[in-house]
Amino acid sequence: MLSNAEIISKETKNKKNKEEAVNMCDIDPLRIIFERRSTRSFTTEQIKDNELDIIIKAAKFAPSAMNQQLWHFTVVQNKELLARINSLTRNAFEKSGNPRYEERARADNFSPFHNAPTYIIVTVDEKAIAPQADGALALGNAFLAAEALGIGSCWIHAVNYLYTTVEGKELFKELGVPEGYVPIGSGAFGYAAGPKPDPAPRRDGTVSIIK
Ligand SMILES: Cc1cc2nc3c(=O)[nH]c(=O)nc-3n(C[C@H](O)[C@H](O)[C@H](O)COP(=O)(O)O)c2cc1C
Repeated sequence: MLSNAEIISKETKNKKNKEEAVNMCDIDPLRIIFERRSTRSFTTEQIKDNELDIIIKAAKFAPSAMNQQLWHFTVVQNKELLARINSLTRNAFEKSGNPRYEERARADNFSPFHNAPTYIIVTVDEKAIAPQADGALALGNAFLAAEALGIGSCWIHAVNYLYTTVEGKELFKELGVPEGYVPIGSGAFGYAAGPKPDPAPRRDGTVSIIK
């Protein structure tokens, strides 16, 4: 069984910042959990390949029902493709018949993924035991890894609606999403353009402790 340090150091073994990655194992996970915020404003600078590797590795180390790991991560960093996903989503929203989506589509600066330079779509085999749970946990791990690396992130749900359209399904094929895999969610990733927002207050009365 590999230790965390060994896992990360194996992942980055031929990369310059191996030491930096190993040091990440000293990061307090609770601090990462409490300090992560959804980021909705990103710089145009692309995240580094070794950072992306760690984010994906973290996603793949999420638990999955019966350890099926029937997920697929589609990472889009190509600017033309990002622009196309943007416009396909906008068209889908415009034609949705949903007033909230239609209003969003009218915004001049429309970008479902907040113009992030890295967009990761998480799909899971629809025949998996618990596709929603597996995919959500993977995405959650990816967000926490991003936070540990100083990278902003945000869950982006629009991909689920896009997939309900013919154009969305065609896009998934083109992107190489395996047959029968359905979107669970997606994530925007990049360096935050501004300070972190304050955390939204957490709802009270949501816990029962029975001793
Ligand atoms: C299932 C799910 C869907 C979400 N969809 C979006 C989205 O489409 N766009 C967005 O900007 N944020 C989205 N979010 C982010 C939430 O708005 C955010 O997590 C919440 O406001 C709490 O803020 P925090 O993440 O900073 O703690 C989503 C979060 C979840 C879990």
